[in-house]
Order: sequence, then C-alpha cells, then structure tokens
Amino acid sequence: MAFKRHTLTAALPYANGPVHIGHLAGCYIPADIYARYLRSKGEDVVFICGSDEHGSGITIKAKEEGITPQQVVDKYHKIMGDSFKEFGISFDVYSRTSAKIHHETASDFFKKVYDKGGFTEQTTDQYYDEEAKQFLADRYIVGTCPKCGNENAYGDQCEKCGTSLNPTDLINPHSRLSGSKPQLKQTKNWFLPLDKLSPQIREFLEKHPEWKTNVTGQCKSWLDSGDGLQPRAMTRDLEWGIKVPVEGAEGKVLYVWFDAPIGYISATKELFANTATPEKWELYWKDKESRLIHFIGKDNIVFHCIIFPAMLMEHGEFILPDNVPANEFLNLEGDKISTSKKWAVWLHEYLIDFKDRQDVLRYTLSANMPETKDNDFTWKDFQTKNNSELADIYGNFVNRVLVLTNKNYNGIVPEASEYTKGDLLILEEVSKIPDAISSSLDKFRFREALGEMMNLARIGNKYLADQEPWKLIKTDEKRVRTIMNIAIQIAANLAIVCEPFLPHTSARLFKMLNISPLKWAHAKNTGNISTGHKINENPEILFSKIEDVEIQVQIDRLETIKKERAAANVSFSPAKPEISYDDFAKMDIRVGTILEAERVPKTDKLMKLKIDTGLDQRTVVSGIAEWYTPEQAIGKKVSILVNLAPRKIKNIESKGMILMAENPQGELSFVWPEKDTTGNGSIIK
Ligand code: MF3
Ligand code: ZN
Repeated sequence: MAFKRHTLTAALPYANGPVHIGHLAGCYIPADIYARYLRSKGEDVVFICGSDEHGSGITIKAKEEGITPQQVVDKYHKIMGDSFKEFGISFDVYSRTSAKIHHETASDFFKKVYDKGGFTEQTTDQYYDEEAKQFLADRYIVGTCPKCGNENAYGDQCEKCGTSLNPTDLINPHSRLSGSKPQLKQTKNWFLPLDKLSPQIREFLEKHPEWKTNVTGQCKSWLDSGDGLQPRAMTRDLEWGIKVPVEGAEGKVLYVWFDAPIGYISATKELFANTATPEKWELYWKDKESRLIHFIGKDNIVFHCIIFPAMLMEHGEFILPDNVPANEFLNLEGDKISTSKKWAVWLHEYLIDFKDRQDVLRYTLSANMPETKDNDFTWKDFQTKNNSELADIYGNFVNRVLVLTNKNYNGIVPEASEYTKGDLLILEEVSKIPDAISSSLDKFRFREALGEMMNLARIGNKYLADQEPWKLIKTDEKRVRTIMNIAIQIAANLAIVCEPFLPHTSARLFKMLNISPLKWAHAKNTGNISTGHKINENPEILFSKIEDVEIQVQIDRLETIKKERAAANVSFSPAKPEISYDDFAKMDIRVGTILEAERVPKTDKLMKLKIDTGLDQRTVVSGIAEWYTPEQAIGKKVSILVNLAPRKIKNIESKGMILMAENPQGELSFVWPEKDTTGNGSIIK
C-alpha cells in the first residue's frame, strides 16, 4: 500500500541525563536518516520527539541532586534539545511531556478509554514504604530478579536479563527511598486488560511479517510467555505525573508508559498549533493513508509493539504503527553503556574535544549501528573511520575536484566533450547509487545504505586516481575537461545522497560547489552542474585527520573512570557485633612516639619499632612496611595499645600494638592526637 504521508517518531528520552552515543546509535540517527531521506524524496513527513518528563527515574534523580523534579526536567530538557540540534537531528518538533498540551491530551485519552469501559478497576496489594509514606512502583523498589538472580533488579524491569517485572515478582524487595523492607498495602488502580485484548494484538502483529526479527522475536516471547498477556496497571500512587482525571483517584497519576507515547500525539498537535491549520495533526494520526513508524531501542519494544497499540485500539480513533524498526544496544569499548556508572560518551562533551565534527560521529555510529545485534564503539575504530574512510576517500576526492577545477579552470566547470567507454560505465554506476541506497533504507538497513553512499565517494576517488588529470593536463588538456566535468557531477551527487547521513558535510559541499541543495531525484542524473558554472574559490577541508594523541585522551579518560569505579566498588566490612563499655574500657591505649624503626629482614610488611609510650620505651613489631619507610616512621606520633599480651613475631618480642586506619584499598595510616600538647602517655578513651 502506498502511503500519503509519514508520521515518524523517535523514543522520547527521559529528561534525567544528557544524551550519549548509545541513544544516538539506537534511535535518533536511524530516525533522522530516514526522515531526511523521505523529505529529500519529496514525501510528506512529520518527525516527532520530545522529553519524557515523568516517571520514577525523574523523581529519584531529583532526590539525588537535591532539586525538584521540575528543575531536573528543565535542566535536561534543555541539554538534550541542544545536543540533538547540534548533531542535526531534524525533528519537526521537540516537545516535552510537562507541556500543557500534553497533560490535556493524555488526560483526554485516559478519560475516553475510561468512559468506554476500556479499563478494569482492581484493588491489589502493592508494596508500601512506611517510612517514606509512599507506594513503591517501578524504579522505587529493587530486589533479586526471579529469572537471573541479579540482586539489583528494578520493580519494572531487570536490566541484566531484560525481563519485565512487577514489584511483587522481586525476591527480597527493598525500598530505594529508605532502604527498608516494604509492606504490602491495598490500593485501587486502573488496568489495561491486555489479556482480553490479546487476540486483537496477535492479529495486529501477524499482519506484519516484514518487521525486523529482533522485534518480532521479543513480541512473540511476550505473547507466548507463561500465562500470556496480563492486565497492566495504567495508574500509579505517586505525586509526580499527570493526575488521573476521574473521581476517586486522588493521589494517583498516569503510569509513565501510558502518558509518554501519547506524547507523540501531543507533540504533533503542538507542531501545528500555531499554524493556519491547527487541526492538521489529525491527518498524521487518524488517516489510514498515514504511515506511523516508531524508532526506538530494544528496551522499548514491548511498549511500542504491544502496550501502546493496545491503548490505541481501546481508544479507537487512531492508526496503529506500521513498523517499529528497533535497534539493539551499542556498547562502549566492550562494556555496556551506563549513565550511572559514567560509562558513556556524552554528546555535549564530545563537542568540546571534537568541535565541528558532528558528522564524524554520525558516520561512525551509522557504520556500527546495532541493527541486528549489540555492537561496539571504540575510539580506535572512530579514528580509523575518520582517517581512512572519510578523510582518505570522501574528503580526498572532493578536495581534488575543487582544487583542480580552481587551479586549471579558475573554478569554471569545463565542458565534457567525448565520453570514453570507461566514462560511460562510470556514469552508469553513479546513476544507480540512489536506488541502491533507497532499497536498503526502505528495509531500514542503515549500515548497508551508508556503504552504498560511500561507494559513490569511492567511485569518484578511484576515477580521479585512475585518470590522473593532474598529469594529463600537460599533454591532453581537452581530455581533462571531460574528466573534471564528470568528477564535478559525482561530487554534486555525493552532496545529495550523503545528506541523510552527513547533513553538515552535505551543506558544506553544496556551498563549495556554489549550488543550492538538490533533492534525491537529481542524484540519478549525471549532469546536475552545468558547464560554465563557477564553483566556490576557497574549498575547505571536509575531514581533517584525527591524531593518535587526541584518541589517547579519550581512552585515558575511560581508563580513569574504570579505575575510579574499581576503587569505589571495594566496600567496607559491616559493623561488628555490639560490645559493652566495659569491654572497651579493658583496653589501655596511649599516645606514643616512634624513636627507632627498621625493616624486619626477609619480610615485606613488618617493621621493628622502638616506641616511647610515656610509661616506658618498648619494642613493637608492626605491619606498616608497605606504607611507610623507616625514615618516614621515625618521629611520628602514634596510638598504641599498651596492655596487649606480648607476642613473638619473627623471633622478636613485640609488646603492644600500634593502631592504624585502613582504607578500602588496604592502605594503612597512623592514628594520632590532633594537638601537639597531647604528649606521650596520654590516654586514649
Ligand atoms: N523514556 C523512555 C526511555 O528512555 C522512552 C519513552 S518512548 C515513549 O526508555 F513512547 F514512551 F515516548
Ligand atoms: Zn534478570
């Protein structure tokens, strides 16, 4: 079926942290490539996104940062929006779910389904934190995953094995607010009867055998798991969110996964709100000839393929998604990207180190897009992709075209007179490129499409290398005119077909060619630039090389994060059992000074010390040799347990024990009185 228009959505990112490369590769780059490609083909497109500002992730972040949830979302909505803009993600609208229009739209949606009897009302036992006086849904509660044993599974999902959970599924649950063990308490909520809707959902999914296998696979496993689909609560006992718009629902808000996808609809409304045709949004959501496509990452699959469609079915007025081309995850240097573990490359930070190199990242992420399985981003590969592909092939070709045209023809496009057989073959190959790219993009095969785009640059680069116009100019200037004309046409076509992938580069190239941007259909022609046209006199370098030192900085940064994490992971041993004051008072601890110190031969750790305790001078063997040299130890004030029974250590009689503080890394340090006036023999109690 041919569609009249396209409603493209990219997952609304939670406004609780900046955007990183995993977000880009998973969802925003494929969505943007697709949107730009369709626009270039002249299709009617709306490309929709915004910030997801509700849910426990936001309120928990607010608590961590000591600010209000509204301050959290304001802060990150801005950072995220700026990053998307910088990287050329061409949303037609970037809205947010705290917007008034969204609160109204989501409320109305709920009300309509409610009035139709589309929800079931159920009173169930939910976990409640008596200390925090709050029900513990979703991310407010952690416990052990019943499937894989991960001890840090959340109330809605285990991030280790991906299973979606209910708080009551968790083994040994505890509250993230107070740490306490929560109690079950009855509460009323409204449920989406996924069980009843299951035949309809199944029928809907079966109509789409063309969906990616990773997507279909997850849906099947949900449908066919255990008892099949279960009713799912669409409301929560929380304060932050959209108030449930019915009577008897005080203190309850809409489930974040109920309100967020409706955000796509609200954002579309916002897009047209201040135009001459504010009702036009309806076309994109209600007309059967509109094609709805959701771009998401794999953790969002069930919500977009099952729950949101079920909501839309219950509502009744809207179209269902035609495709949900979800990607898998991108890893960073072999490890899972994680904001909380600081294991990520954030876009706003990338731009500090790699100013004006947005397209290099877009290129690398597209080339490594986790389309069918998880994939890895490494800085070395990033460097290679820039240096050996973008700079050596694309950049080199374009630079030669522009420099030679300026040098030999004062920037005036020379005339092609006679084509050789080889020329004709090249021109034919060139004109086939756009269809090859289209055929990949139509199947959401972005890496393949990117490869076809680069093939055009390769064709051009090889053509010049084979023809060597810089040599030929001395012997056959006429032939050079034809060669340069062909090369210029290839450069123009490259500017067209690279636009979805490398929009900044495309714009720069059009500018250097001194023509206004051309659309997709032109890329099949091989005569877009007319003879006699004057190109820009000052070509710039599109891709300069990235040096080893620049890459090393990034690798070092990640190394440091790894080390810090390892250090932070060492935990203190738990407190010892309780003792009475009398137990403590048995110890006679004094201030002393080290008079002499020498290593105990044939040991690494031991040092023989002579201590002035104020009562006497005595010998103590202590395990400090790894942390102090004898020179450092001599003269130091210490605390010494003087009434410890003497022991023989390495044949030395040790009388008493020096008290040491030990950090999680096992490093020892002396413990001594703060004031100089606390002399030897002073009692520590
Ligand atoms: N905020 C969710 C996430 O980052 C995605 C929401 S997509 C929407 O995983 F459909 F709900 F908007
Ligand atoms: Zn698990």
